[in-house]
Amino acid sequence: MHAVRAHTRGGPERLTYEEAPRPEAGPGEVLVAVKATSLTPHELTWPSTWTHRSDGTGPDRTPIIPAHEFSGVVVACGSGVRGPAEGDAVYGIVPFDRDGAAAEYVTVPADVVAPKPETVDHDHAAAVPIAAVSAWQALLDHADLQADQHVLVHGGAGGVGAYAVQLAASLGAEVSATAAGKDLDFVRDLGADQVVDYRQDRFEEHVRDVDVVVDLVGGSTQSRSWSVLKPGGVLVSLPAPPDQQEAARHGVRGVYFVVQPDRESLRSIADLVDHGHLTPVLDRVLPLRETRAGYEALEQGGRRGKIVIHVAD
Ligand SMILES: NC(=O)c1ccc[n+]([C@@H]2O[C@H](COP(=O)([O-])OP(=O)(O)OC[C@H]3O[C@@H](n4cnc5c(N)ncnc54)[C@H](OP(=O)(O)O)[C@@H]3O)[C@@H](O)[C@H]2O)c1
Repeated sequence: MHAVRAHTRGGPERLTYEEAPRPEAGPGEVLVAVKATSLTPHELTWPSTWTHRSDGTGPDRTPIIPAHEFSGVVVACGSGVRGPAEGDAVYGIVPFDRDGAAAEYVTVPADVVAPKPETVDHDHAAAVPIAAVSAWQALLDHADLQADQHVLVHGGAGGVGAYAVQLAASLGAEVSATAAGKDLDFVRDLGADQVVDYRQDRFEEHVRDVDVVVDLVGGSTQSRSWSVLKPGGVLVSLPAPPDQQEAARHGVRGVYFVVQPDRESLRSIADLVDHGHLTPVLDRVLPLRETRAGYEALEQGGRRGKIVIHVAD
């Protein structure tokens, strides 16, 4: 099969488009013909990208295939798989400690795969899994967001942020978001009630009494966020673990998590997409052989939503 692989650790410069062995579905796994995948910033720096274990320990498993989300069609089922079946259109997250989906085929545990949204094509479906499930798990599982609460999303125009804003708004929460000036109208259209240009304004001078901060930026944006939270609030971060001493000092919680592949949230998210409550946001679509350029573009910023890799028609 054609695949994009890295034979040694490094950044996008290590990625080559080449022939690779087609994987086979093991027990409990499905083999998926990938139609599209999409890219997540910093994925090539995550230890789990390079080893067999999710904590990043142990020997390297190079060559590796990156891009751990997909939309495609099941072409074979391993022993013991009770669903999905051959021919089903599915989407999902590939566990990070195994080969990803920048390839014509990928194997995935069957129990983390869900039917893809029916109303969008594979390119749009592939823009959903990691980013939307991350937003879902941040807002619902880690923050327990309620309809009458106020949420602040840092990076509201980005891959995860575009879903976090839409999900929080669809739950009925008051939504504030930070974004670059050129993206303010876009983020408002996604459902934000209040938007702050992070390059022009200090958000803490405009946003207060927040129940939930979803931090998709890290660094000083994260450390400046404690002061806008209500006592008892929560800061959920995806880029970096929050300082627990600062959290305690402000009487709030600070949570970091790694998104977990999960069939049930993918099913619920597909339902939201199919009913028009959640719109996949694609910055651009590139062919598989240009995956390296896609990862290079991720390092430059200035995008809206996800960079999608179209693998096959
Ligand atoms: N822990 C996990 O399981 C997990 C899962 C998914 C993602 N992540 C991480 O979460 C982070 C976000 O992912 P993503 O896919 O949403 O990234 P992304 O698409 O690059 O989005 C980040 C957004 O933040 C904006 N931004 C940059 N600096 C900002 C600032 N100071 N204040 C407010 N907004 C700012 C960017 O705008 P401009 O580019 O226009 O400046 C961009 O729109 C990444 O670090 C990613 O690695 C972690």
